[in-house]
Parts: sequence; C-alpha cells; structure tokens
Amino acid sequence: MRLGVNIDHVATLRNARGEAYPDPVRAAEVAVAAGADQITCHPRLDQRHIRFSDLPGLRAVSPVMNLEMAAVDQMFEQALDIGPDWACIVPERREELTTEGGLDVRLAQLPRMITALRAEGIKVSLFVDPDEAVVRASAALGADAVELHTGAYGKARGDAVVYELERIERATAAGVEAAIAVHAGHGLTLDNTTAVAAIAAIQELNIGHALVADALFLGGLGAAVRAYKDCIAAARKA
Ligand code: PXP
Repeated sequence: MRLGVNIDHVATLRNARGEAYPDPVRAAEVAVAAGADQITCHPRLDQRHIRFSDLPGLRAVSPVMNLEMAAVDQMFEQALDIGPDWACIVPERREELTTEGGLDVRLAQLPRMITALRAEGIKVSLFVDPDEAVVRASAALGADAVELHTGAYGKARGDAVVYELERIERATAAGVEAAIAVHAGHGLTLDNTTAVAAIAAIQELNIGHALVADALFLGGLGAAVRAYKDCIAAARKA
C-alpha cells in the first residue's frame, strides 16, 4: 500500500504569517526521504494553502505527484501545465473548511476532463463517497481510480465506526468488481488508519492534516511519515 503525504497544511502555516517558511517543497523532500511514496497537494482556487506558484517546485521533488483539482477549467489548465502523475478530481466549495463530501460524478464536464487528462498520460482518480453505485459510475466514466472519502469514518464514534468501515469495505469490493483501482483518504489519523489500511484491496492512502500535526509531537515530519508507514505496514501484516 502506498502512502501519499498531503503537504497542504505546511503551506497553511506558511500563509498564516505571509512568510516564505515553512516551505512545502522542503517538506515534500523530507517526506519523500522518510518513505512517502507520493506527494499529494490541493491548490484550491482561493489559494488558501498550496498556491499555483508552488506546483513546479513540488513537481520537481515528487517521485509521484498526486494533484487534487476542482473540476473547473482553471485547474484543468494547471494540471495539464504541471503534468502530475495523478489528478484527483475533488469537489470544491469556497466556504468549506476542507473537502466535505464526495464528488458528484454526474458533472457534465467530467467525461471531457477525464479523457483529456488521460490522453496526456495523467492518471485520473475521482474523490467519491464510499458508495457502491458511485464507484461503479466512476468506473463507467473511465477513471483509473476512485479515492474513497474516509471523512465520515474519521468522525464516527461508537457503533457508527463499524457502519462507516463497512461502507468503505463494500465500496472497495465494488471497485474491485468494476476493475477500478481503489484509494482512500481524508480524516485519517494514527488512531484510525489501521482498520482502513487492513482492507487489502485499497492500494493507496492519502494523509495530510493529522500527519503534519503529528510532526509537531513525534519529532518532525520525517518521524511522522515513518510512524504512518509503520502503522500501514503493521495493518497489512496482521
Ligand atoms: N485526499 C483528498 C482527496 C483530500 O481532499 C484530502 C484533503 O485535502 C486528503 C486526502 C487528506 O485529508 P486529511 O488532510 O484530512 O488527511
């Protein structure tokens, strides 16, 4: 299972003071040196964390770059310019604190964007709710992967944890059946990653906010990346 480290919140900290530090490119280098398999970033249209101007530097240091993008022409052009390995199409609302739900896969522009990105050699994933019908619809659109939104699982408590985990398991099974790769991410922490990482057919997790926060207390970003890699490795062995 691959670990994508989302470095958006290094840029959040930088932007909070209008300084040039901490540098997300340096963070990406440290994450990769510590074992991150890919760097994930989400240049939002409001540029609140990763900016378009960060993208060439991030491209240069990412062994695999996963660019999260809203399904709008401005982001589509950026993606074609930067040439990430993956484009993960996400819903984006200006007023949300973070990506709050899955993509509406009925959006009229998706077939055109998916076809054009793939024609440039950019693999496409769709960030969707863990819903079997939506996973099947994503496969029918010709996407290479779905990234299952694990935010509801991350927020669940008590019996709801099992309920949300079962949704993720069923959506993953639907992905396998429809021959589309399955990734997952959002709201994953050192406390809740194990159960998701244990789902054998999920090939990739993208983790950001908690990992960057853990870096403060675990002895740095490299140590935090290693802690998540170890957590994933232990889950896959169990
Ligand atoms: N995957 C996608 C598609 C996302 O939009 C995000 C948040 O930007 C993440 C993963 C990482 O989520 P978190 O920061 O909660 O770990």
